[in-house]
Amino acid sequence: MDFFEAATTTPTVRHFLDRPIEPGLIEQVLATANMAPSGSNAQPWEFVVVRSAETRREIQRLYQEMWEPYKETAIIRGRKELSARAIKALRVGDEFAASLGVVPVHILVFLDRPKMRVERGSAEDLHNFGATYGSIFPAIELLMLSARALSLGTAVTTMLSNREPETKRLLGVPEQYQLIALVPMGYPAEGFKRPYRKPVWPRIHAERWDRAWPRPASKA
Ligand SMILES: Cc1cc2nc3c(=O)[nH]c(=O)nc-3n(C[C@H](O)[C@H](O)[C@H](O)COP(=O)(O)O)c2cc1C
Repeated sequence: MDFFEAATTTPTVRHFLDRPIEPGLIEQVLATANMAPSGSNAQPWEFVVVRSAETRREIQRLYQEMWEPYKETAIIRGRKELSARAIKALRVGDEFAASLGVVPVHILVFLDRPKMRVERGSAEDLHNFGATYGSIFPAIELLMLSARALSLGTAVTTMLSNREPETKRLLGVPEQYQLIALVPMGYPAEGFKRPYRKPVWPRIHAERWDRAWPRPASKA
């Protein structure tokens, strides 16, 4: 499909069909993700593809353990009355957590820490996080885009990082790898909508910060 069509219709998919994915498509998606750039071409990614119903259920349980307190701290706490937006976020988040048991494939993305040559949690790690995490998110984005080109929906999620030891134990992942994201992948229950974003024009600066890029007349 057209690249610009794919790139602008790749929303976070939160409702999936209970329909298996051909192994060849999973391979195509991951082989494309593997073409991503990374600092010093370190290629620090590893993917664990989970299709077993039992393991998916366990991942869902771990995610749910994080989602429940997140709802309380990030959405509900301190609010006397919930806005329509907050109510929707709670509903969609609940439905998404439930759909993690339905989606046929979970892709867990791990970062090979020694390849980044920066000790996890060190001052340099905090200072240089752009190089470390910027060496893995391009692969995740390519994964999402190539899935979209094959009519597969994805959602990048990082909430499971708070259950990293449990997730690594579940999947038998060695110590040196850091859990970066859980990306459920499946056929979407409701098509691919164009995600909402604020217009880019006020965020494009011409030569200097204080000079606005002239907005094209057609985009006024
Ligand atoms: C680094 C990162 C972490 C995210 N973690 C989660 C998550 O744990 N759970 C979740 O439901 N969505 C998660 N998301 C999805 C965002 O909520 C989503 O990208 C954003 O709301 C825009 O959604 P849209 O593209 O459908 O408009 C994450 C996205 C990114 C880029």
